[in-house]
Amino acid sequence: MAVSVAVYLAPVKEIAITNHPHVVLGVTGSIAAFKAATLAGELVAHGFDVRAVLTETATRFVTPLTFEALTGNQAATGQWDEPGRGSRMIHIELGTWADVVAVVPATATTIARLSLGLADDLLGALILSTPAPLIVAPAMETGMWSHPATQEHVKTLRARGVRIVGPSEGRLASGTHGEGRMSEPAAILEAIRQTARRRSSLHGLRALVTAGPTHEPIDPVRYIGNRSSGKMGYALAQEALDRGAEVVLIAGPTALASPPGAEVVTIETTRDMQAAVLERAGASDIVIMAAAVADFSPACVLPSKLKRDAGFQLTMQPTKDIARAASEAAPDALHIGFALETEDLLNAARLKLRRKGQALVVANAVSDGHGPFGSDVNHVLLVHEGDLVELPEMSKVNVAAAVWDDIERLLAARGKLPG
Ligand code: CTP
Repeated sequence: MAVSVAVYLAPVKEIAITNHPHVVLGVTGSIAAFKAATLAGELVAHGFDVRAVLTETATRFVTPLTFEALTGNQAATGQWDEPGRGSRMIHIELGTWADVVAVVPATATTIARLSLGLADDLLGALILSTPAPLIVAPAMETGMWSHPATQEHVKTLRARGVRIVGPSEGRLASGTHGEGRMSEPAAILEAIRQTARRRSSLHGLRALVTAGPTHEPIDPVRYIGNRSSGKMGYALAQEALDRGAEVVLIAGPTALASPPGAEVVTIETTRDMQAAVLERAGASDIVIMAAAVADFSPACVLPSKLKRDAGFQLTMQPTKDIARAASEAAPDALHIGFALETEDLLNAARLKLRRKGQALVVANAVSDGHGPFGSDVNHVLLVHEGDLVELPEMSKVNVAAAVWDDIERLLAARGKLPG
């Protein structure tokens, strides 16, 4: 019989979001676990389909039966429980089923385990395997919460796009007063509702995202490249998947893992990127040019490796503006570009907006050698024809969410946002 339950994540692509979004509720070992039972009841009352996953320690505070009675679904405790539906392993089955995974309450140990990606219990394996968005509601004593180890792990989770709800200040299990008390079920319910809504917001739309650098060959062994890591474009692709879009990611050479669920087209040169983008732009609703495309390429590629003694002068020629060609080829799509500038950022971004037929340019300033290259954080302006939004410096994952919020606003204004 299935025993433990924890609230966790669910995948995006195969699942049509229904009126009853699927929530995996991961419950871990804290006295606040009784509030997870209240939350489970509230979720069901608000139309969610809930399946609980309890860690072994959680079962010392609450029972699987509590959650089974409240949700009408079997609760799970062990990696070897019967899946109940289909024949897949239970962590895969639950991970595929979930639209949202919520860990309520999350102990310091669980937070550390999630940060490290440990998969030696059902909840850990499920969270590692699912593409569904994750919400974590910490609950612990103040000293544990404020410890640098916990804070480091929370920072890691946030940078990955995990939503941390609370904790708040109040009376703790020890009887003392301080930060570490789990947020109330109503606040966690609201976070789950927002995440579930967001998850389906782009359902039925097709997004094309370019990412990473291009490499322009000089001879068979050498090339000209740039410092782009691809992190921003990959985060945008992941966020689009999380919101239910179909995603094509056209990526230059990067060290990043492909986002599960995206169609990934790898390219090397600007010319390859141009062909890949123009082939697919017409079938896209949204085109985001986040790649750091080379502005120049060698006028001719040498057929054999150039010898040092030969001396060398390189003639470069401008590449074709892919973003502009894409907006001309697909005028019905919404086009978004990036601008990386060392001076007069705003004017340059507005000029690009018009020249490339785009509705939004995400502008980065590069000053004193400080730019977004390779970094996990970014500081950008969202530049439109009529206005401008400056975002605070934040993780590229969070910038991606803010850019997609902006795109959804632009789509809604054009009557192109489903639902
Ligand atoms: N871009 C493109 N094709 C190119 C070069 C750039 O589509 N051949 C896109 C990038 O993906 C990015 C935007 O254009 O979205 C801005 O790149 P940038 O190099 O700043 O712009 P350029 O149009 O090349 O303008 P500049 O003359 O300022 O370099």
